[in-house]
Amino acid sequence: MVESRVTTTRSREMSTLVIIGAQWGDEGKGKVVDLLARRARYVVRFQGGNNAGHTLVVNGEKTVLHLIPSGVLQPGVKNIITQGVVVDPFVLLQELEGLEAANALPRPGEGLMISPRASLILPYHRAIDKARELRLAGGKIGTTGRGIGPAYEDVAGRRAIHLGDILDRARLEARLDRVFDERNATLSWLGQEPINREDMVQKLLAAGKRLAPYVREAEAIVRDAVARGEDVLFEGAQGALLDVQHGTYPFVTSSSTNAGAVTTGVGIAPSAVNAVVGIVKAYTTRVGAGPFPSELEGEVADHLRAVGHEFGSTTGRPRRCGWLDLPALRYAHGLNGFTSFALTKLDVLTGLDEVKLCTGYKVKGEVLSIPPSAVNFDEVEPIYETFPGWTEDIKGVQTLDELPESARRFVESIEALVGVPVAVIGTGPGRREVVERGPLWIAEA
Ligand code: IMP
Repeated sequence: MVESRVTTTRSREMSTLVIIGAQWGDEGKGKVVDLLARRARYVVRFQGGNNAGHTLVVNGEKTVLHLIPSGVLQPGVKNIITQGVVVDPFVLLQELEGLEAANALPRPGEGLMISPRASLILPYHRAIDKARELRLAGGKIGTTGRGIGPAYEDVAGRRAIHLGDILDRARLEARLDRVFDERNATLSWLGQEPINREDMVQKLLAAGKRLAPYVREAEAIVRDAVARGEDVLFEGAQGALLDVQHGTYPFVTSSSTNAGAVTTGVGIAPSAVNAVVGIVKAYTTRVGAGPFPSELEGEVADHLRAVGHEFGSTTGRPRRCGWLDLPALRYAHGLNGFTSFALTKLDVLTGLDEVKLCTGYKVKGEVLSIPPSAVNFDEVEPIYETFPGWTEDIKGVQTLDELPESARRFVESIEALVGVPVAVIGTGPGRREVVERGPLWIAEA
């Protein structure tokens, strides 16, 4: 049983940290979380679902996690999925099987805990997501097809099935009575085969049986951990500009992806968060449709895609590539109040003749440093500052002094032009391939 106590006040010793992708996702958050999880006692996912794909490289072995928090490969870390996440129970089971095969299965109630209030992604959500995309033809969002949008619709529409509901047949049936026929009618309207209810119920109950040992009072456990002053890391998924309300709508995901989502996704006071780390890739990528002012085509884009392995870790799609967009980053900073940046994949820029930063947008002759919410991205002309490239191999470099002068200037310009210190620089995919310049965790004084 979880002790009940008032947990909304800040403890003086605590250090809680939120990791946010500061662009359009795929910034390399998994690696940074994995690095930070060395200190964390808890790693908590609070939004999104298995549309995320966090790639970790440990001892040369690549592991991609979609749903389970990235602290799962760190011994002693408690990984928690709270109610703000939409959970596909079948994907979760597959991911657990993968970890088991790698001898890294988290212990129920220790290594992994999941809220019974997490809303489920069901087969009809996936089918509707895919069928809608097909219908949109030219206007596609380019979703991951994982059922994220339809699942969050059901949360807001009060028709979601929670993880706790599949632990009991009567409860599951009662919940399904509220939604099932309507969802099958939608599928039929979309020209898709209906879902067989009994078959789905049986599979869900079987999944529920296997997942039951992991079901815990996740939100209360996090609140208690914060109150005790434990180091808690909140792991965001997707990126600031994919936020359903503040992103490049409608080319966004269906959850709130910014730091404020910790308070609602976990159920915790805003004052419980004391550092927000923005993960920034040294260039920009997008997967799926939507505005991307600094997008490139041609040789440089090909270099970034090939050297940076810019193919979706969830869908395998080639990512669109371009220069780092500082107006978008300043906007993300406004949404999140970043206390520091972790700059990832600087090594990918090695070998380019010159590297650029998009420092502003020109819109109808006016220069903007931050995109206003009503900006029509089609009218944006990016303004660039150009830096000489470098050819020295910086892969695995661990100190600032070992970076070429031009790479250092590139990093310092980002700091100066956005006003956020770069505390960590990624110089390769491996755990140790980083320059650690300053603390990311900010302990309460
Ligand atoms: P959905 O989240 O599957 O509905 O997809 C909506 C948009 O968000 C699409 O453009 C996806 O490519 C994008 N998206 C969703 N999750 C991620 C992610 O983890 N990284 C990058 N893009 C994502």
